[in-house]
Amino acid sequence: KTSAESEGKETLTMATNATFPPYEYYDDDNNIAGIDVEIANAIAEKLGMKLEIQDIDFDSIVTSVQSGKADIGLAGMTVDPDRAKNVNFTDSYATGVQVIIVKNDSDITGPDSLEGKKIGVQQGTTGDIYCSDDYGDENVVKYTSGPNAVEALKTGKVDCVVIDNEPAKEYVKANEGLKILDTEYVQEEYAAIVAKDNDELFEKVNTAIKELKEDGTIQKILDKYIKS
Ligand code: ARG
Repeated sequence: KTSAESEGKETLTMATNATFPPYEYYDDDNNIAGIDVEIANAIAEKLGMKLEIQDIDFDSIVTSVQSGKADIGLAGMTVDPDRAKNVNFTDSYATGVQVIIVKNDSDITGPDSLEGKKIGVQQGTTGDIYCSDDYGDENVVKYTSGPNAVEALKTGKVDCVVIDNEPAKEYVKANEGLKILDTEYVQEEYAAIVAKDNDELFEKVNTAIKELKEDGTIQKILDKYIKS
């Protein structure tokens, strides 16, 4: 938005992948909305900057931030030691759980019955990384987005989808005949990323997140989107 208020302000560019409701998705007016967008806007406001969002493939976000194409990444991104070799993670601002989505009539009952099944994932996500490690690369089918993986489940190309719990709930709500198994696969922490050579911005963003946690802003944003 180019309001008079944002004129003259420096831009804070955020890389994300807007296929991941309620963290980032396209709303009815075709704007990118969600938890991460609201948190990033609150960070930008504290920094006196205006937020600009770049919607890119999830597995390009780390490189985009690392190379300076984007200043920060917020994408429901899990703190992960391999990613941390390339970018710095701020304090975590939310948690997630990897869950399993199946068709209502599936014989899959939990992580123990995934052996030899075709597992759909979003490419480059922790769901992809964990399942490839635990069940073998040859059993994991990688899609560019969660919705694409869910579509493959509906048409029988895969037997299940492993993805984060909150988007999983949204996908199941939007598609008939699917359910989330009542068993959790892996727990994770979400955080923002900043380039390793950008200490100054990292400090500012991390401080902003700490303050937004302490004053309850982040909890309020989470509660707005996540109904228990
Ligand atoms: N939490 C998972 C990860 O970090 C999935 C994140 C996917 N995010 C997205 N915006 N598509 O790998």
